[in-house]
Amino acid sequence: MKKYAIILAAGKGTRMKTDLPKCAYPLLKKPMIVYIIENLTKSQSVDEIITVVGHKKEVIKNILNSRVSYADQDQQLGTGHAVLMAKDLVKEEGYSIILPGDMPLIDDLVIKEAMAYHESTRNDLTVVSTFVDEPDGYGRIIMKNEQLQAIVEEKDASEQEKEIKEINTGIYIVDNQMLFEGLNLISDNNAQHEYYLTDIVKVFKSQKKRISTFILKKPFKAMGINDLYALSQAEAILRHNINKEIMRSGVAMINPDTITIGDNVVIEENVTISPNCYITGNSHIKKNTFIGPSTEIHNSIIGENVKIQHSLIFNSEVKDNTTVGPFAHLRDGAIIGTKNRIGNFVEIKKTITGDNFKASHLAYLGDAEVGNNVNFGCGSITVNYDGTNKYKTLIGDDVFVGCNANLIAPIQIEDNSTIAAGSTLNKNVPKDSLAIARSYQVNKENYFKNKSKSNGKK
Ligand code: UD1
Ligand code: CA
Repeated sequence: MKKYAIILAAGKGTRMKTDLPKCAYPLLKKPMIVYIIENLTKSQSVDEIITVVGHKKEVIKNILNSRVSYADQDQQLGTGHAVLMAKDLVKEEGYSIILPGDMPLIDDLVIKEAMAYHESTRNDLTVVSTFVDEPDGYGRIIMKNEQLQAIVEEKDASEQEKEIKEINTGIYIVDNQMLFEGLNLISDNNAQHEYYLTDIVKVFKSQKKRISTFILKKPFKAMGINDLYALSQAEAILRHNINKEIMRSGVAMINPDTITIGDNVVIEENVTISPNCYITGNSHIKKNTFIGPSTEIHNSIIGENVKIQHSLIFNSEVKDNTTVGPFAHLRDGAIIGTKNRIGNFVEIKKTITGDNFKASHLAYLGDAEVGNNVNFGCGSITVNYDGTNKYKTLIGDDVFVGCNANLIAPIQIEDNSTIAAGSTLNKNVPKDSLAIARSYQVNKENYFKNKSKSNGKK
């Protein structure tokens, strides 16, 4: 028997008041719907994930690609209508878990526990509920004699019902056949003129099906993100929990409230992170390294004993015992060797450096391969782009590039060569050479003295 998850992500997210479809909004640089997919996968509780898409569906599809199958909801007529769109993809026998796509804090444990509860009670429908102090905006759980009766949406609730603190998280586990039969009986006769999925409770109740709630003990996990303030609150909770776990694993954080670490980041012990750092994506920071202050690292691997200050590192790698910054920018597959010094205002793009490379100040290297023991002087650059194409610069071992040199690619500087300061090179340099490509200096002695003497005379 195949188990399905149906994720609802077709809505516009009107309350966000912005262009991006709600479920694509990032927390710690990862779209909220990805958290749900990852936690479903981690829970190992379902065999297939179906995502209902509609508003700006190509954005959601670009994020999730082939990790899920898709059902289209071209008109967003409500959550009940959204689930109905998945009918053709779901086999009749068995049951499904339904989750809203705007609930990024839900974790694998909750999914596992709720599904285990559903199986053990042999329920036809389990509604995951929780108790909150401020229930505003959520559907309220209506109970009578400890029996689940209905869910009433905020906009349809009486003043008395609005006082109820038990809310609908929006997660349901339900028998497939009964679900799709039941959805056909739902109407849009309510305040929002939508087909509410929540009405399935009333339908099941009237049909005397086995229904009950499963109460989630930690309500924050069920937080629904409806506007940008809620997004920031969810992000703060996530940030706090991740930082706590990381600090407890032996990472020092100075002023952790200013430090943001993504939930796929791995940080080894004895690392120190200073204020205002942002480490996200699939980054890995190895032991004994110092990061920050004010550093951004995304999808990058940082070796042991590295020191990085005030710098940006994207999709790159920094090997052991190297220092980066202040104010360096490594990007697009830069691979920085061991014992390098990448200093002030140095940008390195798609370049591999060997061991003991130094670019201490004001340099640009793009599309280059550099050997060991190379010094790249202040103000020197690889001229990798002619306006149409990009070309490679190859630099061998033990090369000294003086200050303010332009290496016009494609070009190769062989081992053990020196490039004179101020040179603009457009030809290869053979090994063991000194290359000078600049005009010679001319000193016109007493030039101004002679000039003023000749002025006005004769
Ligand atoms: C919903 C529940 C509410 C619950 C709350 C929990 C309903 C009617 N209400 O309210 O009881 O307390 O979630 O967070 O279900 N969507 C579609 N197609 C649509 C409409 C919505 O795919 O036509 C998707 C949205 O993209 C979103 C999810 O369904 O991911 C929930 O929709 P939303 O409008 O946020 O529902 P709430 O008003 O929060
Ligand atoms: Ca919501």
